[in-house]
Amino acid sequence: MEIVLKLEEEKDYKLVDEITREAFWNTYFPGCCEHLIIHNLRKTKEFVNKLDFVAIYNNKIIGNIVYVETKVIDNNMEHTVLTFGPLSVLPEYQNKGIGSKLINHTINLSQEMGYKAIIIYGDPGYYKRFGFKESKEYNITNKDKKYPAALLVLELYPNALNGIAGIFEEGKNYEINEKELEEFEKGFTEKDKMVTKSQERFIEIGNKYL
Ligand SMILES: CC(C)(COP(=O)(O)OP(=O)(O)OC[C@H]1O[C@@H](n2cnc3c(N)ncnc32)[C@H](O)[C@@H]1OP(=O)(O)O)[C@@H](O)C(=O)NCCC(=O)NCCS
Repeated sequence: MEIVLKLEEEKDYKLVDEITREAFWNTYFPGCCEHLIIHNLRKTKEFVNKLDFVAIYNNKIIGNIVYVETKVIDNNMEHTVLTFGPLSVLPEYQNKGIGSKLINHTINLSQEMGYKAIIIYGDPGYYKRFGFKESKEYNITNKDKKYPAALLVLELYPNALNGIAGIFEEGKNYEINEKELEEFEKGFTEKDKMVTKSQERFIEIGNKYL
């Protein structure tokens, strides 16, 4: 399967929003909000255009990854790190290595760009294969000074996080307004909201602290 990765262009935005919605729909809760998140992220100053990639198969976009600059706050010092997501692969193309290709490519680029680390909330069962480790290993906590099992850290060069510990701040860019989501949804084809098995795992991981 020949997959080409390209930078996302403005003309791709609507389609990528739709792909994001398809990938996330009913995955973490009935419906999803990630298509609105990506739509809003692109307008923020923290959005990293150079790491906004689409995956193409047979001239058709089937996946996407985006990155945003976030922070680790260490007493009064702020250290810039990266976060990625939404990361999406259309359901019919999942489990064929496309997500891994998008992640590996952008990890390499973010290393070249000189960033210190990528910190995400994700499923350890998936992300540990890319070298992500528990945030506890780096003394990096969430806002409540806790270590959620889903908070994962990838150092981008040896000892990049030496002397850096503290609170991981995603900022407001990933927050969703329910009313705005309701309005935004009107621009998409109607889909059924359902309870699914994957939502159970999300709740289980979301409730786990180390
Ligand atoms: C997560 C996602 C991007 C992975 O892309 P993909 O192209 O399907 O992944 P790959 O083919 O590279 O890797 C597949 C492997 O990851 C595993 N995997 C996929 N999603 C997983 C998850 N949420 N948790 C744990 N493992 C997962 C698969 O079981 C498979 O395992 P194997 O290699 O041991 O068989 C894709 O499944 C997707 O779009 N999911 C819905 C949206 C989402 O959850 N995005 C990530 C959260 S930001």
